Amino acid sequence: LWLAVGIRRRQPGEPVVENGFIPYLGCALQFGANPLQFLRSRQKKYGHIFTCKIAGQYIHFLCDPFSYHSVIRQGRHLDWRKFHFATSVKVFGHDSFDPRHGHTTENLHQTFLKTLQGEALPSLIESMMGHLQDVMLKSDKLSPSKDHWDVDGIFAFCYKVMFESGYLTLFGKELGEDKIQAKQEAQKALVLNALENFKEFDKIFPALVAGLPIHVFKSAHNAREKLAKTMHAENLSKRENVSDLISMRMILNDSLSTFNDVSKSRTHVALLWASQANTLPATFWSLFYLIRSPDAMKAAREEVLKILEDSGLTVDPSNPTLNLTRDQLDNMPVLDSIIKEAMRLSSASMNVRVAKEDFLLHLDNQEAYRIRKDDVIALYPPMLHFDPDIYEDPYEFKFDRFLDEKGQEKVNFSRNGRRLRYFNMPFGSGVTKCPGRFFAVYEIKQFLTLVLSYFDMELLDPATQVPPLDQSRAGLGILQPTYDVDFRYKLRSTC
Ligand code: HEM
Repeated sequence: LWLAVGIRRRQPGEPVVENGFIPYLGCALQFGANPLQFLRSRQKKYGHIFTCKIAGQYIHFLCDPFSYHSVIRQGRHLDWRKFHFATSVKVFGHDSFDPRHGHTTENLHQTFLKTLQGEALPSLIESMMGHLQDVMLKSDKLSPSKDHWDVDGIFAFCYKVMFESGYLTLFGKELGEDKIQAKQEAQKALVLNALENFKEFDKIFPALVAGLPIHVFKSAHNAREKLAKTMHAENLSKRENVSDLISMRMILNDSLSTFNDVSKSRTHVALLWASQANTLPATFWSLFYLIRSPDAMKAAREEVLKILEDSGLTVDPSNPTLNLTRDQLDNMPVLDSIIKEAMRLSSASMNVRVAKEDFLLHLDNQEAYRIRKDDVIALYPPMLHFDPDIYEDPYEFKFDRFLDEKGQEKVNFSRNGRRLRYFNMPFGSGVTKCPGRFFAVYEIKQFLTLVLSYFDMELLDPATQVPPLDQSRAGLGILQPTYDVDFRYKLRSTC
């Protein structure tokens, strides 16, 4: 009978199991309403590990940070590709990237490492810095002045500036665009359309991950296909300064895969999404907390002005050509701490692995649990990020939380007197850790450096409260604010 109604009974040696009351959905609704609260209450009741049925899937939640390594170090029993590749196919509609399915022999992981890290970074950084200044200071959409304040939503501002700059950095500009006015305008329209389509598609992202078919959402489906169309090889080949990531992916799509043209272009949409969906809200939270905290603003501005002064750079909005090297960006611990703290408070990515076979999962306290083949093991980092035994006043923004006594990066965090290996995980963990994480932090630092150099900024309402996180995206990355917050900005009088 248990089997007939799809309910699992706990076998000896297995974690406690909660089937929930609703067939198929199990605990999905309670979990979805507030994942952190749900998991904390179960942790209190059941201990370090327990199993919940969520939308037909049995998920083992591991809550002891000292046991994380047993999942993160991967081991031969756990598979990350199954879940990640299947999710990407479901959401973006391309053929599978899993070599076992026979559509491609590309090692995607290697492509990402080669084109987003190490030697690939300086050119990404340089390109991004140029685009950021063009969009902030030279576009007709934003035309800041010294004489009057401009008002905008912080999220809206970050969206406009970061989307366009990030898009152009990865996908380049149409050939010869700078020379002909009409072409320039057509390009601008293309990026703005891409932004609108991206927003429309991104809205239904959680529903697609949950398994709803995209056909149900007509306008979002249209938006995704329009984005894909702009990324057909024939369109991309008309662009210059395309990043190594996209150029290499185009070559490998052609040489190692049997994907058709539509599938190929949808793989580029997947990368556009990966490069923007978390960066946009992470930039919002960094700027929001910076403007709201006078201490953070003071320390960050001092750090930025010192870097500019030491490099002999002059801030001139009529000729915005500031540039910072990777070393200089690495040497900004205050901005680093602000970004880390902003992400600690807003990140909610679930780290997931699938059991390849029945096996025993060993925890740090010497206990071992039986895990069944095809079950999912999940880590939910907000349980660390909001743990008062790790972070004092965990719901408060403290700009210097990630600085040590010498004002350098703090890497020593403990729980109950024991040093933690994992304490801040906005980028995931192990083999599936975000390959774009270095670039992501650089681009947010560049953005903050520029707004601090060029603008005075204030909240429109100084008493503004922190907007709540939009929990509908919990599990998927950096959460967005449920509403935008207005600020005003103008060119600094010292410029
Ligand atoms: C994957 C976070 C920015 C490229 C991921 C994952 C997370 C993440 C949590 C999934 C890890 C997992 O499933 O365990 C973030 C955050 C960002 C950011 C918080 C910004 C603040 C970027 C940027 C790029 C990028 C700027 C590229 C330019 C990717 C790619 C993957 C990925 C390609 C898929 C990796 C794979 O499946 O092998 N990111 N990311 N990300 N991210 Fe990022």
